[in-house]
Amino acid sequence: MNSQITVWIFELDRTAADLTVFNSWLSGDEAQRRVRLLRTQDRDRFTTAHGITRHVLGKMTGERPETLAFVRNPHGKPSLKGHGYLEFNLSHSDGIGALAVANGFPVGVDVERIAPIEPAVAELALSPSEHAEFVRCGAHESPTHFYRCWTRKEAMIKALGLGLAQPPDICDVTPEFGREPRLLRPAGESDMSVIWELFHFIPAAGYVGALAACGRGHSMVLNRWTPSAI
Ligand SMILES: CC(C)(COP(=O)(O)OP(=O)(O)OC[C@H]1O[C@@H](n2cnc3c(N)ncnc32)[C@H](O)[C@@H]1OP(=O)(O)O)[C@@H](O)C(=O)NCCC(=O)NCCS
Repeated sequence: MNSQITVWIFELDRTAADLTVFNSWLSGDEAQRRVRLLRTQDRDRFTTAHGITRHVLGKMTGERPETLAFVRNPHGKPSLKGHGYLEFNLSHSDGIGALAVANGFPVGVDVERIAPIEPAVAELALSPSEHAEFVRCGAHESPTHFYRCWTRKEAMIKALGLGLAQPPDICDVTPEFGREPRLLRPAGESDMSVIWELFHFIPAAGYVGALAACGRGHSMVLNRWTPSAI
């Protein structure tokens, strides 16, 4: 088993030429989801996220991007039809997207733009120990602290393929910058003996990102997506 996880980072605002190509690859289902978005920018960003996902997964499977088919678990987590060994997860926030790809073990990825955070939201979203640290770190540091915790928890939830509205105490994560991100308490419906690994990354200035992977001994490789980078 290859324990390397590749995370492709990309900007969601692309040229008209890129969008034409990506749009031509979307399935009927994706095209329907796209037209339901109200703003042109959101439709274009959706096209880019799904186009780049198809481009990367097409290269890895040897299939044409437009022929790939996806199935979703009951909570909406997509996986590749016919290529179950290839695990992937997509995240997008404002102008930045990230796609994590692994061979043979589940992964989850989350990126978020750092923005001011209401104390009441932090109290609702963080576990008691994460929230205590949020209060301790003061107004200047607290948004970064919040999004570090949030992305780590979301990455775990997405790796597990769970859905909306998980309780904030589903897991505790380490919030510190520059130290290895770790899951302090396992999460959710998963077998408690399963070990999870967390990685932290900065996809762009003003954003934070986290990757969760099932198992130990993985390595994360960050790549900037370009049409010829893969
Ligand atoms: C489904 C969910 C995990 C997606 O997270 P998000 O931050 O809104 O969005 P992201 O951009 O990171 O991810 C979206 C992508 O993840 C994938 N996805 C959808 N459902 C998923 C699921 N259940 N698990 C993993 N991945 C999922 C899709 O590729 C989706 O892209 P698309 O909408 O363009 O098709 C999120 O909506 C959710 O339910 N989060 C749980 C909220 C919560 O209770 N958090 C508590 C934290 S303690």
